[in-house]
Amino acid sequence: MTHQVTRAIPALAALLLAGCAAAPTEPVAAPPGYLDQARNLAATVPANLLTVLTDELNRSGPAGAIEVCREKAPQMARAASERSGWNVRRASLRNRNPKGVPDAWERAALERFDTQAAAGAAAPTLETWQVVDEGGRQVFRYAKALPTQPLCVQCHGSVDKLSEPVKAKLQALYPADRATGYQPGQIRGALFLKKPI
Ligand code: HEC
Repeated sequence: MTHQVTRAIPALAALLLAGCAAAPTEPVAAPPGYLDQARNLAATVPANLLTVLTDELNRSGPAGAIEVCREKAPQMARAASERSGWNVRRASLRNRNPKGVPDAWERAALERFDTQAAAGAAAPTLETWQVVDEGGRQVFRYAKALPTQPLCVQCHGSVDKLSEPVKAKLQALYPADRATGYQPGQIRGALFLKKPI
């Protein structure tokens, strides 16, 4: 990812204020409010899903709760998109849903998160953002890591530890599943948000 705009924004703003003219290739700073909006959404969407998921796990166990991830997660992402005007989605370097394949920007963010986590950063704190040109349109993009929690391994842990009903259901619904073998603490994927500026 070139010209990553992460925590460098204050420094960049200071440079610009000091009179350094921005060349066309300079990173574009996020418009006011965008980062806060993205962070708020990134705090609420996974938390709401976790509530629904936990309820369903308690009610019908992991095999029953697969439907929550399959139906409710995309539904909740769509509802959040409609409410907020942000495009909301999840993706992973080892996706389960075939639609969860990351695009180039998402892939770079996910790889960076893995590197940061391997270097000792706390996975729940990992985020990144950037203004990018998408077909002549300036778009603010934001990513927040989704760490594997202990409850996630019921459906994303090593295959030999999954229950038989979970294994059977995953095989039937996701024959190309790559989203197993995770340990708690590892990054399962990320929540991605974007909005034109
Ligand atoms: C009850 C089983 C189950 C549990 C528990 C579960 N997941 Fe999933 N997860 C799934 C299924 C099924 C999908 C595919 C959803 C779809 O079709 O969109 C999925 C998809 C995902 C995706 C989207 C990318 C991809 O691989 O397709 C992410 C990210 C993810 N899960 C993270 C988590 C995290 C983090 C936890 C724990 C907080 C968790 N999951 C717990 C079953 C589960």
